[in-house]
Amino acid sequence: MPPISEILLDRAAIRRRVEELGVQISKELSGSDLCVMPVMDGGMIFTADLVREIQLPLMVIPIKASSYGDATASSGSVSLPFGIPDGITGKDLLLVDDILDTGLTLKVLKERLLETGAASVRTCVLLRKESSRHLTADYLGFEIPDKFVVGYGLDHAGLYRNLPDIGVLTGD
Ligand code: IMP
Ligand code: MG
Repeated sequence: MPPISEILLDRAAIRRRVEELGVQISKELSGSDLCVMPVMDGGMIFTADLVREIQLPLMVIPIKASSYGDATASSGSVSLPFGIPDGITGKDLLLVDDILDTGLTLKVLKERLLETGAASVRTCVLLRKESSRHLTADYLGFEIPDKFVVGYGLDHAGLYRNLPDIGVLTGD
């Protein structure tokens, strides 16, 4: 059975939106001491494309967060298995994640990074689920229905991150 029952966002649509976000971020964060932080593992592919559309000097420092395990619903807790990386003191951080669902991952990361001495923390997410409309990110790519999606960095049990389009996981 194919892993995707319906394509929500194809690679061309994703690419156009990532370019727009890059232009916006380049304007708005000009002059900051910018450090882009992909939230691993889901934010990895989005970040790789996004940073190439940002025309500013920047560092890239990944941070690893886990909230889901292998399930398709949030576990309600966030762990930082490798802790907070070195080198973020005084930096203007841009956390980049694949999706806002409950919002817990970015909330916890933001708090921890500010406590650790970041000068500022902004957030950029590619997708926001409809049910999460009350949550905000500084930069947002697309709003999507409340379905479990995979592709372009998003996984189910570690698989399908490499699919170039984003689609609904078969069975959801
Ligand atoms: P939150 O902490 O509930 O906002 O969940 C955010 C994390 O859950 C993201 O970084 C994703 O890794 C994962 N996640 C949430 N919804 C989906 C989905 O539809 N597909 C794949 N991963 C998801
Ligand atoms: Mg995930």
